[in-house]
Amino acid sequence: MDTPTPTPPKIGVIICSTRNPRVCPQIAKFVQDTIQSTQPNTTTTTTTNPTTHLIDLTTWNLPLYNEPGIPSQIKDTTQYTHAHTRAWSAEITRYDAFIFVTPQYNWGYPAAIKNALDYLYHEWAGKPAFVVSYGGHGGGKANRQLRGGFGGTEDEDC
Ligand SMILES: Cc1cc2nc3c(=O)[nH]c(=O)nc-3n(C[C@H](O)[C@H](O)[C@H](O)COP(=O)(O)O)c2cc1C
Repeated sequence: MDTPTPTPPKIGVIICSTRNPRVCPQIAKFVQDTIQSTQPNTTTTTTTNPTTHLIDLTTWNLPLYNEPGIPSQIKDTTQYTHAHTRAWSAEITRYDAFIFVTPQYNWGYPAAIKNALDYLYHEWAGKPAFVVSYGGHGGGKANRQLRGGFGGTEDEDC
C-alpha cells in the first residue's frame, strides 16, 4: 500500500500594522526569509518543510466586529451573517500555525489584530502561535498582551 504523501504545514504570517507607511511588511518578509533559509534544501515533491504565507490585515480591511453571534458558540460557518466573516474564516482555516508580526502601540498591540482575532474562535483554536513584536522602545508589552489574548481563542502560545 502506498504511504500517503504528507502535506507540508502552512504557516500564516500575519502583518498586524495597518498604517501607511509602516515597517511591518518588511519585518514580516524578514521572518519569512529567515524561516525559508533554515529549511533543508530538497528537490523532492514529498518535502514536509513548512510553507509560509503573508496575511496582510490591510488587504482584509475587516470592519469593527459586527457579527451578532458569539464566535465560541458558532457551530459552523453558515452561522456567520457576513461575507467578510466567512471569507476570513476560510482564510484562517487554511493555516496550521501562525506568526503574528506586531508593532507596539500604546503599550499594547494594534486594534486591527484584536478585531481580526475576535471575529473567529474555532479557526484559531489549538493551533500553535508565535509572536514577533517591535516598537519605538521595544515590543515586549505588545508581545505579552497578545500572547495573553491567545487564552481566549485557545491558540497554543509558543
Ligand atoms: C498609535 C501609536 C502608538 C505607539 N505606541 C508605542 C508604544 O507604546 N511603545 C513603543 O515602543 N512604541 C510605540 N509606537 C511606535 C511604534 O511602535 C513604531 O513606530 C513602530 O515601528 C510602528 O510599526 P509600523 O510602522 O509597522 O506600524 C507607537 C506608534 C503608534 C503609531
